[in-house]
Amino acid sequence: MKKSLDEHADRFSDHAADYDESQNSPEYRACASLVVEHADPRPDDAVLDLGTGTGAIALGVAEAADSVVGRDISGGMLERAREKADAQGVENVEFGEGRFRDPNFDGPVDIVTSNFAMHHLGDDEKREAIDVIAGLEPRRIVLGDVMFFGEPNPEDPFYSPEVDDPATVGVLADAFTDAGYAVTAVEMVSDQVGVLVAERRD
Ligand SMILES: C[S@@+](CC[C@H](N)C(=O)[O-])C[C@H]1O[C@@H](n2cnc3c(N)ncnc32)[C@H](O)[C@@H]1O
Repeated sequence: MKKSLDEHADRFSDHAADYDESQNSPEYRACASLVVEHADPRPDDAVLDLGTGTGAIALGVAEAADSVVGRDISGGMLERAREKADAQGVENVEFGEGRFRDPNFDGPVDIVTSNFAMHHLGDDEKREAIDVIAGLEPRRIVLGDVMFFGEPNPEDPFYSPEVDDPATVGVLADAFTDAGYAVTAVEMVSDQVGVLVAERRD
């Protein structure tokens, strides 16, 4: 990880008020839509959204799911997520502090989602995070993020090299496989953005 958790949290809290407006790239929008689409919760499903930010995914799946828990390290982003839930009248979502490697949630969970957040971790930390998520035994994990499908063009990074640390698709797929999950769908949004769907092997 190129910055500490506190530095990441402060950075996002500082921009929480204008975060949603700033996420206007076609890649971000496509990725968020695909994560919601692939999460596809049933009416009795519990969903955990990690790195939930202002709740784009958590609020996006709330209507279809029974309950949703959003976890993030940034108090400012979580506050904005709660304001949005209130404004939209969404009552089955709970937002609170939690991190990838310690989600602060031990209830049963059916689906874990994460969008545009895990790339803040280094590759070993991503692997640890995927192991922690797998330990919660969801039947499905949907990860949308900056990820490399080939050699990224250094002249045109879709991320900030000073704070972000994206993995290759291969590193992520190996981590899911080693944690007992089968990668069942790969959506390539661009050569640097994609969505992986992993289902628990029973
Ligand atoms: C780019 S935002 C994405 C937010 C949201 N998922 C979305 O799709 O709009 C990244 C979020 O990840 C959070 N984050 C960064 N590192 C984290 C970690 N280790 N654990 C949990 N959240 C983290 C940040 O605080 C921030 O809210």
